[in-house]
Amino acid sequence: MARVAIVTGGTRGIGAAISRALKAQGASVIANFAGNAEKAQAFSAETGIPARCWDVGDHEACIAGCAEVAAEFGPIDIVVNNAGVTRDGVLHKMTFEDWNDVMRINLGGCFNMAKATFPGMRERGWGRIINIGSVNGQSGQYGQVNYAAAKSGIHGFTKALAQEGAKYGVTVNAIAPGYIDTDMVAAVPAPVLEKIVAKIPVGRLGHAEEIARGVVFLTSEDAGFVTGSTMSINGGQHMY
Ligand code: CAA
Repeated sequence: MARVAIVTGGTRGIGAAISRALKAQGASVIANFAGNAEKAQAFSAETGIPARCWDVGDHEACIAGCAEVAAEFGPIDIVVNNAGVTRDGVLHKMTFEDWNDVMRINLGGCFNMAKATFPGMRERGWGRIINIGSVNGQSGQYGQVNYAAAKSGIHGFTKALAQEGAKYGVTVNAIAPGYIDTDMVAAVPAPVLEKIVAKIPVGRLGHAEEIARGVVFLTSEDAGFVTGSTMSINGGQHMY
């Protein structure tokens, strides 16, 4: 039986590459999305991967969304918590909404999705949760107190839940991407981005597929002894 996998924010950017890569490995993939229905429809039409809409920052919506997915496709074995937003700005200009949106969606989303799926994985004795953190959660980033705090929180969340899942066959790992050539990074002002890329030893932005290959490994049977880890895929930007 194919493993059932949910990828949050799975119809665009890094998430879309992860959805495709897991499908290519034989998983039954469902891509969650929040806002861009047109892109999600186009993604489903092109890939054959069903897309389902809910806000990962909304606790009840995650519980209901995952229950519907499980009823339609079977128990959820793999969750990739990829959905995330930026609301960049220096602290003295950042609003509470900018802070709260990022904490609610990026970090709260991991909790909400785990609450909806981890108990079942634990009962069935097998599961994989992959949380997408960030180099900026490891190193901090000027103009991102909200995002760096949420992503850093994801790394702590990962290590704590890994301890709870270990003896039940549920592994919980994080990937910390560097700057990847997605719409999110394209929104960084060009002169700022040029300076950041100049400090990446590999000398370029990463590709979404390079993150997806890490996810494929961490979700595989072969990775059963890997838990609580953070895989940094950042072109050498931050070594840790
Ligand atoms: N370190 C020190 N000082 C910095 C700095 C840095 N990294 N970046 C900017 N500054 C300074 C500037 O030199 C400037 O100083 P002066 O006023 O003395 O000239 C001052 O800060 C203000 O800079 P800006 O004009 O850029 O300020 P702004 O308010 O217009 O914009 C900002 C601030 C929104 C933070 C903008 O600099 C920005 O977008 N930075 C990029 C943040 C970033 O990397 N985001 C990543 C998004 S992608 C992502 O998050 C994915 C992932 O996981 C990697």
